[in-house]
Amino acid sequence: MYQAPLTFLKKRRTQYALGKNLPISKEQTSELIQEAIKHSPSAFNSQSSRAVILFGAESEKFWNFVKEALRKIVPAEDFSASEARINGFAAGAGTVLFYENQDVVKDLQEKFALYADNFPLWSEQSSGMAQLAVWTTLANVGIGASLQHYNPLIDAEVAAEWNIPASWKLRAQMPFGSNEQPFGEKDFMDDKERFKVFG
Ligand SMILES: Cc1cc2nc3c(=O)[nH]c(=O)nc-3n(C[C@H](O)[C@H](O)[C@H](O)COP(=O)(O)O)c2cc1C
Repeated sequence: MYQAPLTFLKKRRTQYALGKNLPISKEQTSELIQEAIKHSPSAFNSQSSRAVILFGAESEKFWNFVKEALRKIVPAEDFSASEARINGFAAGAGTVLFYENQDVVKDLQEKFALYADNFPLWSEQSSGMAQLAVWTTLANVGIGASLQHYNPLIDAEVAAEWNIPASWKLRAQMPFGSNEQPFGEKDFMDDKERFKVFG
């Protein structure tokens, strides 16, 4: 019974086999993503996380940018594997682009000079928390997702296409959609090597 909250966390898994049939509306999905980010913690409550939520053709456009950028740098004989992977992300219903606003980080560094070195790290950690919150929230309404990192390869093109402020730094991309395959098996290392409990 005391473990019940963990069932929410355990539902979150990496899903690469995505489809377009969301179990809830686009508007509800967008609201869940925004609420999950809004209620994620941030250093000094600085709320440095930003997100761009792309649905349908806009999401496909994003993955096409990635595909064309990869085509230029991946050896021709390896490209078909990259292309298949990207097509899998584009097959989903949408993509969340996770950003961190660097103006917020700079302001904090000026205001709290003592912690100046920490603010960029805390911003990264805040982004990770927001990513986990969104991923877990989507998983719990039956939406599959994975976490991708094609930044900074496509940052400039994306910024131009969706009018992204220069201070927003792209940190991760989360393609989401219907779960089209069961989740894979997951191995866990020995708890004894990970955790120390005293007292
Ligand atoms: C910081 C971080 C970076 C990750 N980067 C990627 C990535 O670039 N591509 C990818 O397919 N999965 C990525 N993942 C997903 C992990 O591979 C995945 O979470 C892990 O294998 C555990 O599987 P699960 O998500 O099903 O629990 C990332 C996860 C984390 C936490």
